[in-house]
Amino acid sequence: MGAIISGLGISLPDNVLTNADLERMVDTSDEWILTRTGIRERRILPKDSPLLASDLGAAAALQALQRAGVRADQVGAILVGGIVPDMQFPSTACIIQEKIGAKNAFAFDITAACAGFVYGVNMASLLIDSGQCDHVLVIGAETLSRAVDWTDRNTCILFGDAGAAAVLSRGPKDRGVIRSLLRSDGGAADILKLGNLAHGTACINMDGKHVFKLAVSEVSRVVVDTLALEGLTAANLDLFVAHQANVRILNAIGEKLGLPEEKVMVNVQRYGNTSSASVPLALFEAEAEGRLKPGMLVGLAAVGGGMAWGCNLVRW
Ligand code: ACO
Repeated sequence: MGAIISGLGISLPDNVLTNADLERMVDTSDEWILTRTGIRERRILPKDSPLLASDLGAAAALQALQRAGVRADQVGAILVGGIVPDMQFPSTACIIQEKIGAKNAFAFDITAACAGFVYGVNMASLLIDSGQCDHVLVIGAETLSRAVDWTDRNTCILFGDAGAAAVLSRGPKDRGVIRSLLRSDGGAADILKLGNLAHGTACINMDGKHVFKLAVSEVSRVVVDTLALEGLTAANLDLFVAHQANVRILNAIGEKLGLPEEKVMVNVQRYGNTSSASVPLALFEAEAEGRLKPGMLVGLAAVGGGMAWGCNLVRW
């Protein structure tokens, strides 16, 4: 039996922050942001909002369950990626478990920054393949606006808040997650990091050029390597849904893989970088746009702080 993605859900703050809004906050311009990143706007929780990462994650999870036709009490495990957890502990995953009533699940957070969803899909497929779980929720729950220095133009233009979720379920053998490959390099920890929020004033800090280069080279490499393990090449991909950090990164990876533009999903212009929520959010929109058809070979990929990156191949 395969581990199929049986339902997707999203939860976005209503509040839109445009590049024009950012022009009033820091020394930047719509033109600079658009040409360097492709981002036009992002969703941001208002400063005084009581909502936490678990609220965005729980709302996305409930929608994903409803679309999968799976009850919360049928979920065997909840895996949550997120850079700003509600608390140091308990995990955001346990808080979401309680909020959605998934009383039969075990739950834990995955600390792989923007790669959290791709790491989670790998773990979820193993839990299903091994027979331990019938349904697993993989969630990206991100309130990045609370970890951004809103006076730092290098970083504050990049990020957005979002929750997005996928239910993985036991399904037919010829569908679902075919193969995953995950990689990390702790030696590159310094190029993208967020100090411990409990210690006070930590903010996301990055060496943008270094991150850019590693993202392009390593994501293309891991996608090629994952495909090769199945005797496939990038030419076999019907759709490529990668972490939405920057349109230039997506274009460069697409070019390295030799993918035509229409096979590379891009929605970073509307949401910015939503870290671990970005791949399921892009998948959700690809499905809504009718771009995901049964039998298609879909490549998921992401890279984030750690550095941590990886790829999942999914037969839709
Ligand atoms: N507005 C105007 N000017 C800016 C801004 C801004 N918002 N931000 C930086 N600058 C200035 C800098 O101060 C610098 O000026 P200087 O040359 O006088 O010192 C200059 O612009 C830098 O310009 P470039 O070097 O040409 O910028 P670059 O093309 O490298 O783009 C960017 C910067 C967008 C950050 C790019 O490096 C990038 O996208 N890197 C990847 C980072 C990323 O995506 N991180 C997200 C997390 S990682 C992940 O999710 C994979």
